[in-house]
Amino acid sequence: MDQTQSIDYRLLVDNLSTAILLVDRDLNIFYLNSSCEALFDISLIRASGQPVLNLLHMPDDEFNTQEAFLNTIKTGQPYTRREATINVNFKDIHVDYTASQLNAGKPYHPLLLIELNPIDRMLKISKEENFIQQHQVARQLIRGVAHEIKNPLAGIRGATQLLARSLNDPKYDEFTDIIISEVDRLRNLADTMLGSRQLPSYELVNIHEPLERVRSLIVNQTKNKINIIRDYDLSLPEVMADRDQLIQVMLNICANAVQAMTEHPDFFTEHRPELILRTRIQRLVTINGVLNRSTVRVDIEDNGPGVPEDILESVFYPLVTGRANGTGLGLSIAQNIMHQHNGMIECQSIPGKTIFSLYLPWEASHVAK
Ligand SMILES: Nc1ncnc2c1ncn2[C@@H]1O[C@H](COP(=O)(O)OP(=O)(O)OP(=O)(O)O)[C@@H](O)[C@H]1O
Ligand SMILES: [Mg+2]
Repeated sequence: MDQTQSIDYRLLVDNLSTAILLVDRDLNIFYLNSSCEALFDISLIRASGQPVLNLLHMPDDEFNTQEAFLNTIKTGQPYTRREATINVNFKDIHVDYTASQLNAGKPYHPLLLIELNPIDRMLKISKEENFIQQHQVARQLIRGVAHEIKNPLAGIRGATQLLARSLNDPKYDEFTDIIISEVDRLRNLADTMLGSRQLPSYELVNIHEPLERVRSLIVNQTKNKINIIRDYDLSLPEVMADRDQLIQVMLNICANAVQAMTEHPDFFTEHRPELILRTRIQRLVTINGVLNRSTVRVDIEDNGPGVPEDILESVFYPLVTGRANGTGLGLSIAQNIMHQHNGMIECQSIPGKTIFSLYLPWEASHVAK
């Protein structure tokens, strides 16, 4: 028997790491494979029939691209571009791509086959590994400092109480009370710096459950001052995770968004503050050097002023803050929890649109680090 007859070509095309697009002669999308869905963060159903130039949005030379594609369909001459910049979800990505004519057995209705290879991935992996290493060193340093701060505090507190008792004079109470309350404040800070001491306890979690918990907390706290929009994919599979820790991650990120929006009311002259909670499946995500075929993604998006540009690159590092009374620990703790779950958080931010995306792998059998 001819072995090629037993190959399921659709399966093969969907498992290619090259992103593939098929386009009709009007330059509308006819088909895209799984890698292409992941690259553009769009499903085949949503993309079908859309103009390909909407997807391959190349800000500089749309006209030339259109001409080149039409020319390839007409003449059969392949067209190749290297290091083209395309814009996906307001993020520039770089791709090499080739467009060629595909007759599909019908010479009068040729299709255009576009193969895209993103070239950012290698760049991104090394940047991420570097970041994770640095982040771990910084966390250890912080924990060390927090321990050293905490150790003498119990002694100072006890001695102050003894002092207050032996002075036994109300006019000194004010001073000893200040010492005690400042010591307590410092101890709380040190506890936050140390992070959770509990090991994660993993169970199957429907990601919407902690997300809804956080949403109701935020609704209570903001009393309808912020529009909260839910955009959930309810077909998402459950993930192995520590439910309480996920709540902490989402709460830290939502708290930042709420603070950014409520602390800058002048930014909202023509529109209302808005928080969008979005859940999706995201295929082909590299986390700490491991390519995950499938992940659950949670976006927490706000329309506030955005992360200050000077801290955007380092926003996940401990003690990095853009707020006068921030400690700069919320995101570092959240990222740490996600790393323990073999996941990660990414951030994209411009004024008016800030998205923190959480990624959790769901297919791998889970082993805590
Ligand atoms: N959604 C957002 N919009 C604008 N800026 C943000 C947003 N999220 C985070 N930031 C910026 O990132 C900084 C770091 O956030 P992080 O949660 O780590 O610390 P913090 O909020 O300053 O303090 P803490 O969370 O420890 O109380 C914030 O101070 C803020 O400047
Ligand atoms: Mg915070």
